[in-house]
Amino acid sequence: MSVITPPTDLLRQQDPQMADVLAGEAQRQATTLQLVAAENFTSPAVLAALGSPLANKYAEGYPGNRYHGGCEYADAAERAAVERARALFGAEHANVQPHSGSAAVLAAYAALLRPGDTVLAMGLPYGGHLTHGSPANFSGRWFDFVGYGVDAETGLIDYHQVQQLARTHRPKAIVCGSISYPRHPEYSVFREIADEVGAYFIADAAHPIGLVAGGAAPSPVPYADVVCATTHKVLRGPRGGMLLCAAEFAERIDRAVFPFTQGGAQMHTIAAKAVAFGEAARPAFATYAHRVAANARVLAEALADRGFAVTTGGTDTHLITADPAALGVDGPAARGRLAAAGIVLDTCALPYGDQRGIRLGTAAVTTQGMGEPEMARIAGLFAEALRGEAAGVRAEAAALAQGFPPYGR
Ligand SMILES: Cc1ncc(COP(=O)(O)O)c(C=O)c1O
Repeated sequence: MSVITPPTDLLRQQDPQMADVLAGEAQRQATTLQLVAAENFTSPAVLAALGSPLANKYAEGYPGNRYHGGCEYADAAERAAVERARALFGAEHANVQPHSGSAAVLAAYAALLRPGDTVLAMGLPYGGHLTHGSPANFSGRWFDFVGYGVDAETGLIDYHQVQQLARTHRPKAIVCGSISYPRHPEYSVFREIADEVGAYFIADAAHPIGLVAGGAAPSPVPYADVVCATTHKVLRGPRGGMLLCAAEFAERIDRAVFPFTQGGAQMHTIAAKAVAFGEAARPAFATYAHRVAANARVLAEALADRGFAVTTGGTDTHLITADPAALGVDGPAARGRLAAAGIVLDTCALPYGDQRGIRLGTAAVTTQGMGEPEMARIAGLFAEALRGEAAGVRAEAAALAQGFPPYGR
């Protein structure tokens, strides 16, 4: 089988319209190059848990203390997910109920802050997430965010600026995390600055947490009061969120998730998180995580060779951000031309000016089994697509993707 297909006969008989939608999406994923930095291909075992009868179960509360009857298997799923998360990340406490990364951040704020508190986080023009103070998001509406940036020349976090802003604004919390920062943050420096001004330190590790699981990135767990994460990026689990913290914050975090910000947990997703944590604990996942970072390094270098201005001069992670201006296009135009050529990625803010660049990642293509030769080939396809040779590139991109089927042949 070249693409994974839903339990087709049944769905097709009952709802052909939706069967076509799901088959179309499976085909799209299998025949174009998935370089969206926040995406990956979960395993068939994760998909099986997501499509299991636990999807039917209501389980408000926590294992052993639910508001609903019949929770013995829901409890077993959640206990396994929590234990596996704790073991994988060496955390004293884990909460696996957040429905998403944003829900995890909301719960972290709810546990530690009061409306109106000052929070220091990466400014959105530099790669901060919506939950780091966007006026369009609850965070910007309910808290007083101060934004730190990155050095315009190097693209690296300016820790001196973080310290100065912390001293000036005395925030209640400092957030370290980004949607596009391609380097490892200095968690120990954030911890020192937070301690100096008496702030909580929240690490929003939505992006690097999978690399952390595989030992390919430093862990924020020993430094941060609370770590927020997603489970669906490099970690390769179901779409969802997670919180890790020291025992002293456990009760506050749990209450902040349920009943403060969420109702019933999604037990099928929690079972799928447990499956993903089990997979991530295996040696093969460590190999995978290191390959993701190695592929990103090679792709970043190859893109730089083709004229892309790669932010920070490269990457330590799965993430690459780059300015395609030297190839005659801005980020949105590049994304459009690449999409027409079957190469799927995002635009992102750049650390200087007001033009947007492109953001891409190697998690999905590495899951497919692609390696360094394919990264060089992909960089070549980028340059051709931006020169306007979409039709030819599209055929090549499809052939490359189909040579590495995400769910086997
Ligand atoms: C740093 C960061 N925080 C939070 C989130 C939110 O995750 P979700 O889209 O699951 O709400 C993301 C998502 O990409 C992120 O990159």
